[in-house]
Amino acid sequence: MKAIEIRNKYLNFFERNGHKVIPSASLIPENDPSVLFTTAGMQPLIPYLMGEKHPEGTRLTDYQKCVRTVDIEDVGDNRHLTFFEMLGNWSLGDYFKEEAIQMSYDFLTKELQIPVEKLSVTVFAGDEDAPRDTISAECWKKAGIPENRIYYFGKDNNWWIAGNEGPCGPDTEMFYDTGKPACSDHCDPSCDCGKYVEIWNNVFMEFFKSADGTYTKLKQHNVDTGLGLERMAMLLQGKKTPYEIELFAPIMDKLKELAKTDDIQSRRIVAEHLRSSMMIICDGGRPSNIDRGYILRRLIRRMTRHMRKLGIDLNEISNLVDININNLKEMYPELENNRETIKNVLIEEKNKFMKTLENGEKEFNKAVERARREGKNKIDGETVFNLYETYGFPQEITVELAEENGVELELDKFDELYKAHQEMSRLGAEQKFKGGLAEQNEQTTAYHTATHLLHQALRTVLGDHVRQNGSNITTERLRFDFTHPQKVTPEELKKVEDMVNEQIKRDLKVTCEEMTLDEARASGAIGLFEHKYGDRVKVYTIGDFSKEICGGPHVEHTGDMGRFVIKKEEASSSGVRRIKAVLVKE
Ligand code: ALA
Repeated sequence: MKAIEIRNKYLNFFERNGHKVIPSASLIPENDPSVLFTTAGMQPLIPYLMGEKHPEGTRLTDYQKCVRTVDIEDVGDNRHLTFFEMLGNWSLGDYFKEEAIQMSYDFLTKELQIPVEKLSVTVFAGDEDAPRDTISAECWKKAGIPENRIYYFGKDNNWWIAGNEGPCGPDTEMFYDTGKPACSDHCDPSCDCGKYVEIWNNVFMEFFKSADGTYTKLKQHNVDTGLGLERMAMLLQGKKTPYEIELFAPIMDKLKELAKTDDIQSRRIVAEHLRSSMMIICDGGRPSNIDRGYILRRLIRRMTRHMRKLGIDLNEISNLVDININNLKEMYPELENNRETIKNVLIEEKNKFMKTLENGEKEFNKAVERARREGKNKIDGETVFNLYETYGFPQEITVELAEENGVELELDKFDELYKAHQEMSRLGAEQKFKGGLAEQNEQTTAYHTATHLLHQALRTVLGDHVRQNGSNITTERLRFDFTHPQKVTPEELKKVEDMVNEQIKRDLKVTCEEMTLDEARASGAIGLFEHKYGDRVKVYTIGDFSKEICGGPHVEHTGDMGRFVIKKEEASSSGVRRIKAVLVKE
C-alpha cells in the first residue's frame, strides 16, 4: 500500500468515526519560539489539549509534517529520518481509552488488514505519578490482543511528553512483528534488535508536567495519537528501510545512477536531508547561524558534503529537487508553488558552503601538518575553535575530517572556548535590546505602526505567502524583511506605497485588546512567530485594515504619521526581500 493510500484510509476512517479533518500545520511553529520545528501532530494543538475550545469540535484528525533533529547524526542508517509524516487522531475531552484502543485496533486489523498475530502492545506499568494502566490492557484484550502480547513498562517506554514541560500522560504503543527471530529469551517490544517495530502510539493525556517536575491533572482527559507514515508504508510494503518505499525510490535510484562510488549510507543522507530541507524551505525556513536556521544549514551542508563524497556534480541539485517535487507533490502540493525558492535557497547555501569548505579544509590540513611536525596526533582546542569562529567551519565537519585523517581533537578546550563565546554574544544581544528600548519615542512609534500597515499592504498586493521575517526601526527609517520569492516590481511597490498612504489619510483609529493566543489567531490576527509571547497577547487593530499580534506601542490615530515613502527594495537572502521606507513629515 502506497503512503498516500495509507494517509487517505486513515483520514477517512477517523472521519467516519466522527472526527473533523484539520489541515497540517506549518513545520515552523507559529507563535511558538520554544520549539524549533513541529515535532508531533499534537504540537499545534497544545492550547486545545489544555482546555481551549477547538472551533472544529472535540474529535480531530490530520496528517502532520514533522521534523525531529535529535537524531541527525544517525541519519544514514536504515531507519532514522529527520522529516516524516505523522498521522494522528485526537479526543479533546471526548472519548478515552476504550474507544481509542478499539479504533486503533480496527484501523490496523480491518483497514490495513494487518494480521492480529503480528501485533503486540505495551501499556504503562504505574508509578508514584500515575497508576498501572490495567484499563488499557483490558481494552486491548477485549479488542482481540491475547494477554501474552500485552507488556507493561515504566515511564521510559510508556509515558509521552513533548520536551520537558507540557501536557503528557501514560501511553499505549502498538508494535509490528517483522518476523525476525527473537534475539534472546528476553526479546520483547522494548528491545531494539529489529524484531518489533513501533507503529502507533496512543497517549492518554490527562496530566500537565511543570518545569519543576510536578504533575497536575489537566482540565480534561485527552487522547493524542501518532502513527509514523513512512514506517507503516515500509512495513506494509515488506521493505526493510523507508528508503525503499515509493517516497524515496526515485531519488535513491537517481543518486545511484549519478554516484561514482557505491556508498548506500551517503545516498540515504543525501536523499533524506534533501527532502527535509525542501520541506523546511517550503514552509518558510531559511539557513542561518542560529536555531532552526542553523539546523537547516546543517542539513543542507551535510547533504552537500555527502554529494561530494559520492562524486556527484553539485549542479545536479536542481534536477534532484525536480525529481522530488514530481514525486512528492501529490502529497504536498505546496512544493510545486515553491519550486524556484527551494532551488534558489539550496543552491545559494551550497555555494556559501563550498567557499567555507575550501578555506576551512586548507586550514585544517595546515593544522594537521603543524601537529605532526610537532610529533603530536592531536589538534588543539584553539585551532578547532578558530576553524569554527574565523572560517565558519562547522564543528561536526571538523570531527568528521579528523576521523578521516586519523587525528584527535582537543574538544574539551573547544567546548570551553565555545561557551565563553556564546556568553559574550548573549551579553551583546542584551545590550542591543536595552539600546532599542531607550530609543522608543514618537518617531519610532510611528514607524512601528507603519510597519503594520506595510505588512498588511504587502499581503494584500502580493499574497498571503508574505510573512514578516524581521524588522528594524530607528528614528530615521524602517526596515522590513518578508518572504516573497521574487523581486517586487515597481508597479507592485507603488500599489503598496499608495495603500499605506491611503490608510494614513483615512486617519484610522488604532486600538489594542488583550486576549489569549488562540483568540488572537481565531480573530484573524497575523502574528510574528519570532517573538516570545505569553498566554495572553496584545492585538493591535488599525481600523478595518490590519490586525496583528504585537507588544506595541503604536500611535493612536494614523492621521499624522507623515507620508510613507519606500526608498528601496532588495534581496535580503534567498526568498526573503527587504524594504526600507521612511515617513516624511510635510
Ligand atoms: N504525540 C505522540 C507521539 O509523538 C502521539 O508519539
